[in-house]
Amino acid sequence: MTCAGIGMIAAFGLSTSIASAQQSVEVLHWWTAGGEAKALQVLKKDLEDQGVSWNDMPVAGGGGEQAMTVLRARVTSGNAPTAVQMLGFDIKDWAGEGVLGNLDDLASKEGWEEVVPDALKEFSKYDGHWIAAPVNVHSTNWVWANKAIFDELGLKQPTNWDELIAALDKIKDAGYTAVAHGGQAWQDATIFDAVVMATGGPEFYQASMIDTDPDALGSDTMKTVFDRMAQLRTYVDDNFSGRDWNLATAMVINKEAGVQFMGDWAKGEFLNAGKVPDTDFMCFRFPGTQDAVTFNSDQFVMFQVGEDRQDAQMKLASAVMSPSFQSAFNVVKGSVPARTDVPNDDFDACGKKGMAELAAANEKGTLFGSMAHGHSVPAGVKNAMYDVITAHFNGEYDSAAAVEELVNAVESAQ
Ligand code: GAL
Repeated sequence: MTCAGIGMIAAFGLSTSIASAQQSVEVLHWWTAGGEAKALQVLKKDLEDQGVSWNDMPVAGGGGEQAMTVLRARVTSGNAPTAVQMLGFDIKDWAGEGVLGNLDDLASKEGWEEVVPDALKEFSKYDGHWIAAPVNVHSTNWVWANKAIFDELGLKQPTNWDELIAALDKIKDAGYTAVAHGGQAWQDATIFDAVVMATGGPEFYQASMIDTDPDALGSDTMKTVFDRMAQLRTYVDDNFSGRDWNLATAMVINKEAGVQFMGDWAKGEFLNAGKVPDTDFMCFRFPGTQDAVTFNSDQFVMFQVGEDRQDAQMKLASAVMSPSFQSAFNVVKGSVPARTDVPNDDFDACGKKGMAELAAANEKGTLFGSMAHGHSVPAGVKNAMYDVITAHFNGEYDSAAAVEELVNAVESAQ
């Protein structure tokens, strides 16, 4: 063999070993809106700086329903991604199937036990083992309002149902769309969560949305909830059907609509459009829910992968849990950190408020998992609720029929 030949083989050998040393993670998620993508970029960069390349697997669709369908197909074909964005009870379901990885060593090395609140550990751990790294806490009972419209019409932040209706009437009379909404089941359900809390209070939320007590589901209070949903339906525009949540947020950003009822991922859209809290937009709790927080937490669930992929997987989990990342990511995303030890210095007014209210609700026992976002009941029950809420919102049932359907649908889904 010539020297050149040996040289070539050596060079070839070197480049393959570099290639095989290149680590990568494949991550399935539904963060495709502008603010969401920007937040995810923080994580991608973090990993790329550590030499781990990011193989993106986005599946559009707020709330993640489509993402969960794609995931099922991937796992069934024996080809699970490294990590998957997931919510609450879906995590438990996958853990029960015995297909998830184990993060115990990393968690004990980094002391996750002490800094992750119990409400999140409920989903990050299964049978005492860490299976997921929580990236944030979102809360869902927010109103996002266009400040210029509120100022122009002399409106104050409403604090109860009657004040809300009075404000919406004024906005509508002035020629704006009062409520920016996208007619998709998870968005209808997001409003429903807030109306349940506002109408019946924390105990009723617990009884109906978490304990699925048939008496609560079938109560007069629940009929009032549906009546109120029908009333809100009169404030959305004619083109609401099927609209994505971020396009509804854009209506508030662009001064076409007064308010949107949405989780704090909406703030990511305002920020991405260069808007400033308290100057361009306002964030306040859904009227009547000031003392309570309904939450959901995005977690990166780690699937069982071959040994060659485990090191990169642990790097991803460790990056997600680092305090500096939790601050940098959540500042952009609109959520708050999933660790209790992250300072609020870098957060804007809405973020600081979100962090304080979350801590207060946790203290007072008024912090509840969001039904709409998979944190109160398993997917089967959630979807049964979705169907009734959406059918009623679209006028298929009156409120009395909806109450009856809700009781029946939940019973047969359990
Ligand atoms: C939620 C998720 C958020 C947000 C939203 C809209 O379920 O927790 O992170 O992005 O969907 O896509």
